[in-house]
Amino acid sequence: MKTWTKALVAAGALAIAASGVARADEVADKQFKKYCQKCHGAEGKGDGAEGATLAEKPRDFTDCAAMAKESDDKLFEVVKVGGKAIAGKKSEMPAMGKSLSDDEIKNLVAKVRSFCATGAKP
Ligand code: HEC
Repeated sequence: MKTWTKALVAAGALAIAASGVARADEVADKQFKKYCQKCHGAEGKGDGAEGATLAEKPRDFTDCAAMAKESDDKLFEVVKVGGKAIAGKKSEMPAMGKSLSDDEIKNLVAKVRSFCATGAKP
C-alpha cells in the first residue's frame, strides 16, 4: 500500500471512530430528553415539570461538589435498578434497566456528568 493510501485509510478509520463517539452522545441526548428530562430538567437541575411534583426532588446535577461524592458505578446502579433498590436513595427515581441497555445507561451517566462540566456552579 502506498503511503498516501495508508494515510487515507487511517483518516477514514479515525472519522468512523469519531462519528461513533458523536452518535453515542446524540443517543444519550435523545434518551435523556425522552426518559429523564421531565424530572431532571433540560439542564439537569432537577427542575423538570414532573420532578417539581415529587416528594423527593431530583438533585441538581450541576452541583459539582455534591456530584463528585458519587462514583460512576453508583450513578449507573441508581439508573439501572432505581432509587428504591439502593440504600439511601429514594424510590422516586425509577429503574430504567428494562428500557435501556447497560451501554446506554453508561452514556447517560456521562450525560449526567456533563451537566456539572457545563453548569454554573464550581
Ligand atoms: C419520575 C421522575 C424521574 C425520572 C423519569 C428519572 N429520574 Fe433520576 N432521579 C429522580 C429522583 C427524585 C432522584 C433522587 C433520588 C435520591 O437521591 O434519593 C433521582 C436520582 C437520579 C440519579 C442519582 C443522582 C443522585 O442524586 O445520587 C441519577 C444518576 C439519575 N437520577 C439519572 C436519571 C436518568 C439518566 C434518567 C433517565 C433515564 C432518570 N434519572 C429519570 C427522579 C427521576
